[in-house]
Amino acid sequence: MKFFIDTANLAQIKEANDLGILDGVTTNPSLMAKEGVKGTDAIMNHYKTICEMVNGDISAEVFSTDFDGIIAEGKKLAAIHPNIVVKVPMIKDGVKAIKWFTDNGIKTNCTLVFSAGQAILAAKAGAKYVSPFLGRIDDSNWDGVDLIAQIAHIYSVQGFETEILAASIRSSLHIVKCAEAGADVCTCPLDSILGLLKHPLTDIGLAKFLEDAKKM
Ligand code: E4P
Repeated sequence: MKFFIDTANLAQIKEANDLGILDGVTTNPSLMAKEGVKGTDAIMNHYKTICEMVNGDISAEVFSTDFDGIIAEGKKLAAIHPNIVVKVPMIKDGVKAIKWFTDNGIKTNCTLVFSAGQAILAAKAGAKYVSPFLGRIDDSNWDGVDLIAQIAHIYSVQGFETEILAASIRSSLHIVKCAEAGADVCTCPLDSILGLLKHPLTDIGLAKFLEDAKKM
């Protein structure tokens, strides 16, 4: 399973990348706004900076919701760097646009996916990634991991090549559950990635080894 970091914060991207386990980055308008990135030039420059930091796919989301607007925006984003993946919402014009991008050699990530039916449409349109939002599903008292497993089963049975990018991760346990359920990629906040490091027995064991090392 690939690890992406789900942020537009450059310090956090650097910290995850320095760990040596980072395969890519996802952003969305909320994450960009949180970093105070405003205006077309600043947005383009921010994506360029991320692409120069991380050697992997970088998802950049369009704001338009009509076919022509999505295509125009997506072309500009894709021109920033070969690693840009155009993130397109799961709406009717979005599906049409994903098919257009696929036919024209531009990689896409179909976002805001909450059902297996939507995941099938994204795969049919040729999306490189499909992003089921498992945390938001959990927030509404459904089981997000079940959806990841269902999509993984369908894609395997049907031979779809679209990669399942588990999004809206809320915890380290979510990452483990996504790996079990067959996600191809997990995009995670930095805290959830670092949380994977932790186990109290590791801390206790290390303290004992260090204590005993003094006797050597
Ligand atoms: C990433 O591609 C998604 O936009 C992101 O994971 C959504 O996360 P949230 O539900 O925590 O906003």
